Amino acid sequence: MAVQFLQKFSCTLSASRTYSTALRKATLIPGDGIGPEISAAVQKIFSAAGVPIEWEIVDVTPVRGPDGKFGIPQSAIDSVNRNKVGLKGPLMTPIGKGHRSLNLALRKEFNLYANVRPCRSIEGYPTLYENVDVVTIRENTEGEYSGIEHEIVDGVVQSIKLITEEASMRVAQFAFKFAKEQNRKKVTAVHKANIMRMSDGLFLRCCRDAAKEVPEIRFEEKYLDTVCLSMVQDPSQYDVLVMPNLYGDILSDMCAGLVGGLGLTPSGNIGTNGALFESVHGTAPDIAGKDLANPTALLLSGVMMLHYLELSSHADKIKAACLEVIKEGKHRTGDLGGTATCSKFTDEICKLDEFEGKHPHQEKEPLKGFEGGVNPVTGEIGGPIGPEPTRYGDWERKGRVSDF
Ligand SMILES: NC(=O)c1ccc[n+]([C@@H]2O[C@H](COP(=O)([O-])OP(=O)(O)OC[C@H]3O[C@@H](n4cnc5c(N)ncnc54)[C@H](O)[C@@H]3O)[C@@H](O)[C@H]2O)c1
Repeated sequence: MAVQFLQKFSCTLSASRTYSTALRKATLIPGDGIGPEISAAVQKIFSAAGVPIEWEIVDVTPVRGPDGKFGIPQSAIDSVNRNKVGLKGPLMTPIGKGHRSLNLALRKEFNLYANVRPCRSIEGYPTLYENVDVVTIRENTEGEYSGIEHEIVDGVVQSIKLITEEASMRVAQFAFKFAKEQNRKKVTAVHKANIMRMSDGLFLRCCRDAAKEVPEIRFEEKYLDTVCLSMVQDPSQYDVLVMPNLYGDILSDMCAGLVGGLGLTPSGNIGTNGALFESVHGTAPDIAGKDLANPTALLLSGVMMLHYLELSSHADKIKAACLEVIKEGKHRTGDLGGTATCSKFTDEICKLDEFEGKHPHQEKEPLKGFEGGVNPVTGEIGGPIGPEPTRYGDWERKGRVSDF
């Protein structure tokens, strides 16, 4: 009976599903190493799925500015500012010399204050853990990654961890708002306030204050070391986790390991001036240029971007095809134990229509209030109809950023 109801329900949804055709622009930063290969794969799959996106491809190879310092080319900055949304491949960061991390520079330039990384078990790709479903939300603009380092005297260097109330409150409020919108139950603040009493203490206080504003979401506070231990023992006890920059970097990679590795894990950087979606992994120099990379992480980051743009039908279609190809197991890339090339895996996903309706994720109802991604009131593409602007501007209220 329940099955019949679900089948009927899904038929109704399929019949009424709207695919927006209004063309919109997004910036694409292919990146370094395997970046260009996996970016090409994403473009090909988006094209096969008829996604109405026109890519503006930009190069972020550092250029020397008037002050003599190397930084992101102005044309790339202009592109993201114009389009307000982008997809980014991995960027190489030289260690100990050369230009500063471009990833950090992009996060700062566009005030991308929250890094959202959903980690979900992939059906048909078993790991040691079943049913992992956690989302880490990392403060993305300060903390240990503020880049304030100096040598005091020979052999003594100092690195300053900067924590501000404004940035901590912003990311804490984002985490609770996100948890509420995504029907999540609990937010865990991850910290070391027992050691870094002032800095992590301030972060924690902001989380407590943000928790009071959303009483329907449970709140708990845990030490980073406790979370690492208990996460690998039983990830099901966690839901949404919010934390300062460095802890988020490490913990989110650990969570990626629970569901099959970096090749599978997407992320979104949500900011006040734009949103940039990117795979969690790096440039993978060991396999670059060999057609061996797994494009899934970047593709699912693209899927997050499509949800953000209210192109959820396209997002679901692509996700279903990707997960079905992985589940079938015949065309997996090397990192997932298969022998398929990146191109072969991509071509299989491009047979999108074969997977139509096969994956349960596709049966989700399109977001209410949007007709094919166009706001019927203002005519704005992808714009919201109802809710008031939040204090952080238009960005994070647009779409369901984690719904990959
Ligand atoms: N967001 C980013 O742009 C980002 C993130 C992490 C690292 N990096 C940069 O990337 C460079 C290399 O870093 P690293 O070697 O520590 O980490 P990495 O993620 O590039 O590689 C770690 C391992 O995972 C494998 N791997 C990663 N992505 C894969 C994919 N999509 N398919 C198959 N295998 C994959 C690699 O082959 C390698 O064995 C460094 O310069 C680092 O600064 C950039």
